Amino acid sequence: MMTKNSIEFDPYIERKAFDETKQGVKGLVDAKITEVPGIFHHRQDILTNKKPSASVSDLEIPIIDFASVHADTASREAIVEKVKYAVENWGFFQVINHSIPLNVLEEIKDGVRRFHEEDPEVKKSFFSRDAGNKKFVYNSNFDLYSSSPSVNWRDSFSCYIAPDPPAPEEIPETCRDAMFEYSKHVLRFGGLLFELLSEALGLKSQTLESMDCVKTLLMICHYYPPCPQPDLTLGITKHSDNSFLTLLLQDNIGGLQILHQDSWVDVSPIHGALVVNIGDFLQLITNDKFVSVEHRVLANRQGPRISVASFFSSSMRPNSRVYGPMKELVSEENPPKYRDITIKEYSKIFFEKGLDGTSHLSNIRI
Ligand code: OGA
Ligand code: NI
Repeated sequence: MMTKNSIEFDPYIERKAFDETKQGVKGLVDAKITEVPGIFHHRQDILTNKKPSASVSDLEIPIIDFASVHADTASREAIVEKVKYAVENWGFFQVINHSIPLNVLEEIKDGVRRFHEEDPEVKKSFFSRDAGNKKFVYNSNFDLYSSSPSVNWRDSFSCYIAPDPPAPEEIPETCRDAMFEYSKHVLRFGGLLFELLSEALGLKSQTLESMDCVKTLLMICHYYPPCPQPDLTLGITKHSDNSFLTLLLQDNIGGLQILHQDSWVDVSPIHGALVVNIGDFLQLITNDKFVSVEHRVLANRQGPRISVASFFSSSMRPNSRVYGPMKELVSEENPPKYRDITIKEYSKIFFEKGLDGTSHLSNIRI
């Protein structure tokens, strides 16, 4: 028999009720709520905006122009130097003139919006939490049932694109063509980025690719509905990424911030640009040479905000390859800082912990 107490003490009871609507945060906004429900409230100390100190208040994450990357050796080397500086000091940079056509970027953003604004009954048919087995899943807060202390103001769908692309019918019609087209460009551009990163390490261009860093692509497409009380919640809690590298396309709303020198710095939207950031696995295999920097997204009265995050990571997919600090980068003076681990083992910790504001890399530091 279910006692009254066992109901009262289910810590997930309100999260479950929200989950069972299968309509996400968008469903709350459609129902015209004017107050953010309690499960979305974050602790005040987490919300407090660390004020940028005078020295960083006008800092901007590096913006790198890729127009001449294929022009000649000197131009390429100059870009590698800029990339190296950015990934060693910021963990983030924006790329302009990356050669992915503007209309492809517009189409994927439109497709993501079309899916999330689709008839709720159609969306429900794609609702699932079985990201381990399904290629395409739609839900709100992948970490709803983890130990994450609060729920975020965001709905998402995710899709494993490479190495085994989904069959067309596995992707909803609203975004199917856009997903295939955009991901084709992301895979190609990702290949170039890993070449430049290999060169920035002083290694052969193909080194990172030969370690399967570009092999697996997981796309997560976020929809941050307008929020009636943005000071009480967040779009995404502070976290670093469970990937080698993440390529982010954001619209013009803003709200993405990175933690730099102990201050939150805005990643200001630049029309047509792509944001690149180092994920935890690149920090691990480069033995801390490249940094996986923590970031978050604020909730916003405006919106919806749309972003498309392309993770180079096999995440929870089977992958027996073991990763540790690269032999070329460690020495007696610079011993390995991490133990060896598979991506799946790492991701398991990531999903169990959820986005709780702490870094997962610290768990495997030697
Ligand atoms: C992420 C992320 C930022 C954004 O998906 O890991 O940090 O702007 N997204 O949506
Ligand atoms: Ni992230």
